[in-house]
Amino acid sequence: MKKIIAMIEEVLVPAFEKAGYDAAYARAAASNRPDLCEFQCNGAMAAAKAYKKAPIIIANDVVKELCGSKMFESVQAVNPGFINIKLSGSFLAGYMNDMQADEHLSVEKAKTPRRIILDYGGANVAKPLHVGHLRSAIIGESIKRMGRFMGHEVIGDVHLGDWGLQMGLIITELKKRQPDLPYFDESFKGEYPEEAPFTIGDLEEIYPAASKKSKEDEAYREEALEATKQLQQGTPGYRALWSHIMRVSIADLRKNYSRLNVEFDLWKGESDAQPYIPDMVRKMKEQGFAHEDQGALVVDVREETDVKEIPPCIILKSDGAALYATTDLATLVERRKLYDPDEVFYLTDKRQEMHFIQVFRCAKKTGIVKEDTKLTFLGFGTMNGKDGKPFKTRDGGVMRLEHLIADIEEEMYRKIMDNHEIDPTEARETAKIVGLSAIKYGDLSNQASKDYVFDIDRFTSFEGNTGPYILYTIVRIKSILNKYKAAGGVESKGGILAAANDSEKALMLEISRFNSVMETAFEERAPHKICSYIYDLANAFNRFYHETKILTEEDPAQQASWIQLLQLTRRVLECAIEILGFDAPERM
Ligand code: ARG
Repeated sequence: MKKIIAMIEEVLVPAFEKAGYDAAYARAAASNRPDLCEFQCNGAMAAAKAYKKAPIIIANDVVKELCGSKMFESVQAVNPGFINIKLSGSFLAGYMNDMQADEHLSVEKAKTPRRIILDYGGANVAKPLHVGHLRSAIIGESIKRMGRFMGHEVIGDVHLGDWGLQMGLIITELKKRQPDLPYFDESFKGEYPEEAPFTIGDLEEIYPAASKKSKEDEAYREEALEATKQLQQGTPGYRALWSHIMRVSIADLRKNYSRLNVEFDLWKGESDAQPYIPDMVRKMKEQGFAHEDQGALVVDVREETDVKEIPPCIILKSDGAALYATTDLATLVERRKLYDPDEVFYLTDKRQEMHFIQVFRCAKKTGIVKEDTKLTFLGFGTMNGKDGKPFKTRDGGVMRLEHLIADIEEEMYRKIMDNHEIDPTEARETAKIVGLSAIKYGDLSNQASKDYVFDIDRFTSFEGNTGPYILYTIVRIKSILNKYKAAGGVESKGGILAAANDSEKALMLEISRFNSVMETAFEERAPHKICSYIYDLANAFNRFYHETKILTEEDPAQQASWIQLLQLTRRVLECAIEILGFDAPERM
């Protein structure tokens, strides 16, 4: 469906032309002064110079041409030269009805769909998920859903950290604890056991223990480094252990991510890129892109226009070991081969920005990606505690994701039980659903690149700009619709009538913005724009609700019209939260 602003401009263009002015000035925008009008055109101000006329004269000329239009309730030229516009009630109601009939709620899909690989989540295998990974998962999931909604093919890849020192640490610690396992017997020739010699609970204890020891004991650290190297070189027992660690860990990660409503299409990781490294390095050398620098193999990625120092991209360390950048470059080789994407989009903490600048430049320079493949990095800010420092547990440790979720759920449960009489089992279930909205909305409603304060009290509140408030609004609509039905109200197809009062019109105007908000939010990869939109929409709905007696309305056509407007509001809100990655409960 066309956007309302575009439809207004379609009427403005011939009016400007008939009045003798260039159509380029016929631009409309939402009003800066909602108290005076709904839309405005500032074209007369812009045209004044070119035509050497006072803007108000131009505005008056144009308004004369517009007066007959059925689209407007009023069009006025006001000093110093604005054209103030109000839509007619019947036009807006017609737009609502068209939206209601549109499966995609007025949003047009991209004309040229792109294939986008979204690299998000980025959990490290065998290390607990912590709140740092939370943002990547939450923001990434919503960008993925936004892209799909706009008609693109988006492939989500969790890109696990599964090839690093943590693996060597776990292997080393296991060897100390259970030296008799066949994995450590070099002469072992049989089949390794199918069962892992540890559970996820063991791993959760083993990794931090090993990590602690390696920091205190140099020899232990050396051993872990050696184990990592052997694993990477393919020692069979270590590879077998690695597979166990992967399977146990991934099962746990899947559970955690699904608890967050986060789903990946690909569960690939750093290890998948390793086979591509030797050939990639050989080409970089042959084609003269890579050279030696203090023993390491590097590619220069500086550019003339740089205002800050961009160090060379290190491909191999002096001992021949591959690094984070090497893996990311080789992953791009793999992605091109397997998926040939138009764009690869990465989402991590903004502290990794330099890494991605180097990798992107290196990939372009060496031809790993095609000239026109877009590489994008979105760096997000830190999630802080109320003290303004990175979010920690009460005793100062790193907060684990599941604990954070449990805390939120507990608080939500308490609030729900406080609010009304409700069966505790149902309250628990509801607390889960609403708790997730509190976490996700609390995160997504901030511009991603900014740091924000994770404030459990505020995020779980039913009032203000929060997830629970949005859900509360949806639940309220559901409850009115249910009551209407219970009282014998029927699904009417009579259509939505022109707004009966200001608050209804304001609600309709909010609804009509949905298509343009969704488009901009995806273009700018900005879920916070969807949040601020649904907040405005929820406010507009609640104002309408307080001023309108829907269920006691005596005129059945009017009542049926309102019911349909409620259904539309609900659909828009539900569609938006689905894209943000959470759901609404039946009651709360
Ligand atoms: N595992 C990494 C970390 O925890 C994030 C991976 C991000 N993706 C990438 N392709 N580098 O920091």
